[in-house]
Amino acid sequence: MAGSWLLGPGAETPGERPTAVLVAVRGEEGAADGGPGSETSLTELRRLADTDGLAVADEVVQSRPRPDPATYVGSGKVDELAALTERTGADLVIADGELSPGQIRNLEERVGVRVVDRTALILDIFAEHARTSEGRLQVELAQIAYQLPRLRGDGRSMSRVGGGRTAGGAGMGVRGPGEMRLETQRRTLRQRATRLRRNAAELARRRERTRGRRARNRVPSVSITGYTNAGKSALLNRLTGADAQVRDVLFATLDPTVRRLRVGEVTFTLTDTVGFVRHLPHQLVDAFRSTLEEVSGSDLALHVVDASAPDALEQITTVHGVLHEIGAGDVPELLVLNKIDVAPSEWVDCLRRAYPDAVAVSALTGAGTAELRGALADRLSQL
Ligand code: GTP
Repeated sequence: MAGSWLLGPGAETPGERPTAVLVAVRGEEGAADGGPGSETSLTELRRLADTDGLAVADEVVQSRPRPDPATYVGSGKVDELAALTERTGADLVIADGELSPGQIRNLEERVGVRVVDRTALILDIFAEHARTSEGRLQVELAQIAYQLPRLRGDGRSMSRVGGGRTAGGAGMGVRGPGEMRLETQRRTLRQRATRLRRNAAELARRRERTRGRRARNRVPSVSITGYTNAGKSALLNRLTGADAQVRDVLFATLDPTVRRLRVGEVTFTLTDTVGFVRHLPHQLVDAFRSTLEEVSGSDLALHVVDASAPDALEQITTVHGVLHEIGAGDVPELLVLNKIDVAPSEWVDCLRRAYPDAVAVSALTGAGTAELRGALADRLSQL
């Protein structure tokens, strides 16, 4: 159920799209470079909300050097936000940045609806889209890591996972019931995390064994990587005729899909991986480390870029940053400029100048895929 983690149990009206008001602080450096509050970042936040099944009612953006430590935006803007939320009947407020537990509490008190941040939204989408047991397990671990410092002991914590509703009975003696409840919630969540981690380790060992077998058989492996919505699954389908999920939403692919493929004389495996996004919450990078390790364990990374995106260059930088972070920075890369059927040709030329070895394709029409197969065969025969 989209948005349920964000809205809390039972808060959703069946058949109706919950609505949200977005709020952002545009910092000095943020406006230009895709940082929090910039136009690019907000456009992405709108798409993230849409992917999560939420309708965006309106937005409040404040330019100020840094967020207010107590309420994220300044006092006047909080009033504006409260009025707007009331007028539009919005169910929640989503901030384009990471909020402290205190900021969330203060804002909720003044605005009167649930307040969440970008990280919580991304976690919610991940929870919706994870399909395999490993994917689901990793998302839940990330949710717990996010929840632990944010528990309140008043039963209002986000409670799709483990401990939310298990809050224990009345308090005894010196401590108040809230504090007792908080401790019970914390303990339940920690115990659940320990169990999940043990299961995750077992699954990772299994994955490692499969990868080891592939390596022994000397089947080179190629992983498809790239920014979310770049067209990775569409390209996988175009190259293999497979039926990976292609949807115009963010993070349609969370779990790796492996296919076997042959170009020229070379047979290799091709793996689709999770898409990256600006300000990917670090809990998620951690949680998906083992899935992302598919990339670090592969012989070649096919890095797919949406060449029709005006911020394609920043997207490439973001992906390189995450690859570096997960220890896949030195995996050889073949850059693929996708969606050339809709990208302005001057822009594609500009990207080609920046990355002369890149291959331009359209997964949709098939243009350039013969050249891509050639480039793949070349690179793989050099291994
Ligand atoms: P995530 O799962 O979010 O990481 O997405 P992805 O990178 O796997 O993207 P996906 O293949 O799901 O494609 C995203 C959207 O872009 C879909 O609506 C596709 O139809 C569209 N798309 C993919 N390739 C092309 C292309 O070459 N041209 C055009 N016009 N659209 C494309």
